[in-house]
Amino acid sequence: MSPQEKVRARFEAEFGESPAFIVRAPGRVNLIGEHTDYNDGFVFPMAIDRATWIALRPRADKRVSAISLDMDERREFALDDLPRPGKLRWIDYLIGVAWSLGERGYALNGWDGVISGDVPIGSGLSSSAALELAAARAFYEVSDFDWDARAMALACQAAENNWLSVNCGIMDQMISAAGVADRALLIDCRSLATRTAPLPPGTAVVILDTGTRRGLVDSEYNERRARCEAAARHFGVAALRDIDLAEFERRGHELDEVSRRRARHVISENERALQARDAMKAGDAGTLGRLMIESHISLRDDFEVSSPALDAIVAGANAEAACYGARMTGAGFGGCAVALARTEAADTFGERVAAKYRAETGYEPAIYVTRASRGAETVFPASIP
Ligand code: GLA
Repeated sequence: MSPQEKVRARFEAEFGESPAFIVRAPGRVNLIGEHTDYNDGFVFPMAIDRATWIALRPRADKRVSAISLDMDERREFALDDLPRPGKLRWIDYLIGVAWSLGERGYALNGWDGVISGDVPIGSGLSSSAALELAAARAFYEVSDFDWDARAMALACQAAENNWLSVNCGIMDQMISAAGVADRALLIDCRSLATRTAPLPPGTAVVILDTGTRRGLVDSEYNERRARCEAAARHFGVAALRDIDLAEFERRGHELDEVSRRRARHVISENERALQARDAMKAGDAGTLGRLMIESHISLRDDFEVSSPALDAIVAGANAEAACYGARMTGAGFGGCAVALARTEAADTFGERVAAKYRAETGYEPAIYVTRASRGAETVFPASIP
C-alpha cells in the first residue's frame, strides 16, 4: 500500500468516515549549492517523489489528535497550551509548527489526523521538513488563511530554529513548500526568489544512501555556520554571499587557514550553483555533472563535511560510465549522495554502485531513482488551482 492508501485506510478504520482532506509534503535532494543557504547564497534542490502524508478532518475544540503509523503512536495536544519539547519526538514537529504559525498571527483550528510517509528518517532527505510542511498544510485546510509557500517555509524553519532548537537554513522547508514537478528549483536564500530548471534530457537523479548516520552533525553544523559568519564579519559584509571569487582571491589570505578553506567552499559553491543553472538551461549534462564532482571535492577538502562512506559511494558512482557526476548531499557526515546518471542505465548504475560500495565498506546502501515532485499540497479533495 502507498502511504496515501495507508493513511486513508487507517483514518476510515479509526473514525468510521472518509477523511475531509489528504495532504502531502515531499522530502528533498539537493543537486548543488551545499552549506550555502545560511550564507544567504544559492541552493538547487528538487522535491522528491517521497513524502509525508496526513489524512485529516477538522475538530471544533482547538485540539490536535494525531496517529503516526510509522511510529505506531497516538498523541494529542491543545493549541492554547502547547507542551514544550523535551527529547525531540515526531509530535514536537507538529507542536512547533502550531507554535510558529500562532506566533505569526495565524488563527488555527484543530484536527484529527493519521500520518505516514516514505521519506527515510534521518538519512538527509529532509523527512522533518516534510512533516512540518504537511502539518502546516493540515492547519491550512482546517483554518482560515491563505497558502503562501514562502511564508509557510519561513514559519516551519522558525519552528525548527526556535521551538525545536535545530539551527537549519531555509533550503529544506522552502523546497518542500515550493517544489515543482519535473523541475529542480534554484533558490536565492536571501530574497527567496526561485527559478525552475529541467534536468538535462536523458538524465535521471539517483539517490545513494550510504546507510550511515552521524550523531555529531549538529555540533559540526553549528561550528561551520559560526566560522562562515565570522568570515563575513571580517570582510565587512552581511554574509559570504556578498563576496565573489575575485574578491576572495585578493583578500582570502587575511583569514586563518581553516576559515579560508571554509569561506572558499561557500563562495565557490555559490558560483557553481549559478553555473549549474546555465548548464541545465543548455541541457548540458556533462557540465552539470562536472560541477557536482567539483562540489563534492570542495565539501570534502575545504568544508570537511564528507565522510569515508560518502567518499566511497561518490567515488564508486563517478567511476561508472553511466554517471555524469555525483556528490554528497545535505548536511554531510553520513546520509546520502546524489548522482546524475543516464536515464536508460539508471537502474543498473544503482545496482553496480551498491554492490561495489557494499563490498568495499560492509555498509548496506539504499538506492532510489527519483523524480522531481510538487511541493506541499492537498491531494484530496482536489485543490482549487
Ligand atoms: C541541512 C540544513 C539545510 C542546509 C543543508 C546544507 O540540510 O537543514 O538548511 O544548510 O544542511 O546545505
